[in-house]
Amino acid sequence: MSQKKNIGIIGGGNMGQAMLSGFLQQGITANTLFVADHSANTCTQLNRNFGIYSATDNASIADKADILIVAVKPQQMRSVLERIAPCIVENKLLISIAAGITSMQIFTWLNKPNASIIRAMPNTPALIGEGITALYATPTVSEAQQQEAQVLLSCLGKILWIKKEEQMDTVTALSGSGPAYFFYMMEGLITAGIQLGLSQQDATELTLQTALGSIKMAVAQTNDLKTLREKVTSKGGTTERGIQTLTQGNFLNLLENTIAQASQRAKELSQEFN
Ligand SMILES: NC(=O)c1ccc[n+]([C@@H]2O[C@H](COP(=O)([O-])OP(=O)(O)OC[C@H]3O[C@@H](n4cnc5c(N)ncnc54)[C@H](OP(=O)(O)O)[C@@H]3O)[C@@H](O)[C@H]2O)c1
Repeated sequence: MSQKKNIGIIGGGNMGQAMLSGFLQQGITANTLFVADHSANTCTQLNRNFGIYSATDNASIADKADILIVAVKPQQMRSVLERIAPCIVENKLLISIAAGITSMQIFTWLNKPNASIIRAMPNTPALIGEGITALYATPTVSEAQQQEAQVLLSCLGKILWIKKEEQMDTVTALSGSGPAYFFYMMEGLITAGIQLGLSQQDATELTLQTALGSIKMAVAQTNDLKTLREKVTSKGGTTERGIQTLTQGNFLNLLENTIAQASQRAKELSQEFN
């Protein structure tokens, strides 16, 4: 992507900062990055930590940006979009990362049926360039804009284009929220190790390296996940007993329900903040 494009971000919170970090690490220059946050303190911190221009006035950042990423909470989307609507001129690409908020709602709140809107669902590993961002482009987005979004958001990790917008809720539940499930599982394994006599340091090292090694094997795809699992699970052995315990506790149903509930929450957010 041409370095001349200005990238604006509205909302300098968790995801806004994760994206900023990813962009800077991948060589996007600080003088093309502009962030708005309604807190003056946050703006000062962003300026100090990232060396980028920041302001409390959303419209001023929306004006400067060729590509504008809106990274506020779903409940703030309507008021933010209604206020910046006059800045969303032709050829400006607006990327929303809000969970649940549909492109129809965005078009309506901007009152701009021809605006170029992409919905994106990144995740926090973006901070270290190891995220995955799912993208859905509305029909008003040009091929060139899709390419720009792809190049920009590749700074955060992998990209997956989604053809049907309704799938964004499942994506949100699976990969947007996903890091939390993995962190939660690792927290639980560490706690279990400590309860059974390991030191915090040893339990943490064993858990994190086991997770890292397993993920690397899964990603290498030398075997499918079931085969990899079976290779650890000797008949009558320790792993078999552990897996039986997970099965008796309906582990897979629990995971299915987790994703279903998170996806349902994305739909509710859309309705609540309409
Ligand atoms: N966190 C994730 O892992 C993740 C993953 C994928 C997608 N998302 C989506 O990303 C969006 C942001 O999530 P987040 O976790 O980054 O939230 P967050 O940490 O609360 O960040 C939002 C930021 O926007 C600020 N803000 C609130 N109202 C504003 C306004 N009117 N104008 C300008 N700035 C305003 C907030 O300030 P205050 O804190 O003072 O309100 C905060 O600094 C959400 O829509 C979420 O669905 C998040």
